[in-house]
Amino acid sequence: MRAVVLVGGEGTRLRPLTYTTPKQLLPVAGVPMLERVIAQLAAHQVTEVVLSLGYQPDAFLAAYPDGIVAGLPVVYAVEPEPLDTAGAVGFAARYADSLPGSTDPGTFLVLNGDVLTDLDITALIDFHRTSGASATISLTPVEDPSRYGVVPTDDEGRVIAFVEKPAPGTSPTNYVNAGVYVLEPEVIERIPQGRRVSVERDTFPELAAQRLLFAMPTGEYWLDTGTPESYLTAQQDLLSGSRGGPPAPGARMVSEGVWVLGTPRLDGDVGPGSLVADGAVVEHGARAAGSVLGAGSLVSKGAVVERSVLLPGATVEPGARVEDSVVGSRSVVGEGAVVEGWTLIGDDVNVQPGTVLLAGRVPPSPL
Ligand code: GDD
Ligand code: MG
Repeated sequence: MRAVVLVGGEGTRLRPLTYTTPKQLLPVAGVPMLERVIAQLAAHQVTEVVLSLGYQPDAFLAAYPDGIVAGLPVVYAVEPEPLDTAGAVGFAARYADSLPGSTDPGTFLVLNGDVLTDLDITALIDFHRTSGASATISLTPVEDPSRYGVVPTDDEGRVIAFVEKPAPGTSPTNYVNAGVYVLEPEVIERIPQGRRVSVERDTFPELAAQRLLFAMPTGEYWLDTGTPESYLTAQQDLLSGSRGGPPAPGARMVSEGVWVLGTPRLDGDVGPGSLVADGAVVEHGARAAGSVLGAGSLVSKGAVVERSVLLPGATVEPGARVEDSVVGSRSVVGEGAVVEGWTLIGDDVNVQPGTVLLAGRVPPSPL
């Protein structure tokens, strides 16, 4: 089966990290988000992936030059301009169909590429086939539906309405669009070409009005990684074991809840819920816990890193503290600095000694 994976958004809520790396290539516990998404597809009947690219397409081509991601062949459909979610699906599907040797894909999948989930996609496909729908949406329960597409259904699963990002407190249900769809090819024919069209605001409301849209609730692990909080939560869920298994392929547990990749040097105190990559160093008198320390990163003596991500080559100098934050590749948090509260620091930044950053956004240097 074909899957169109949408990865063309700008990742605005994860700026400045996404100035240098598109959202779906950001690492989640050491593995690019995209590889985690595609590995899940490979486990559920998918044999062909069409990547719908818009923002920084070259980064994807450079990362996977042989066109294989997580073992599946991928086709790159690069939009000439941002076409929004349905426009992107239409463009990608038509592009893949136009390639030499392409055969009728039949029923296919669409995914928002920033969703990490253990969803049983096979069960979703089975439900879609039984209902005879043109499109079927997977639903997941959330605490605050106002950030998502809200999807009330009848008892058979037929969608009554699709309301994208309703005002807080107005949602009739807390089951929202999980960003995983099964579509019939006829849906592509409905999508106008060459302009912005939204799945959420145009295509799905139209299909719902014609009683052709169904949805299926699931309770499996699900997280949209598009905000700083959820980008960190995605990694903490893997590190704490709440998603089960090793947090990354090849990771070994060296003490309770402490995972390593390759050969880091751990002279300091590394607490549970940590993943430490090759060549990373935690010096004597330093502490790290609940964190991902990327390849070649350094936590100097007297420094503390908690519930945070140090991207490869990042340094935390003596006595500095990093909590609930991300430090970009090769960036340096100077002596005694404090970085906390979902601060995002871009690549190659020097945070001056003693600086305090709370919910800060530091652009990469040079921009
Ligand atoms: N190719 C392309 N072109 N991709 C795009 C474009 C575009 O113009 N705009 C957005 N995308 C991609 C993003 O990269 C992302 O993978 C996906 O489409 C969804 O966009 P987000 O910007 O992440 O949307 P959201 O999280 O606010 O809301 C969506 O996802 C929720 C679930 O996570 C909606 O589909 C909601 O209804 C849904 O509940
Ligand atoms: Mg999103």
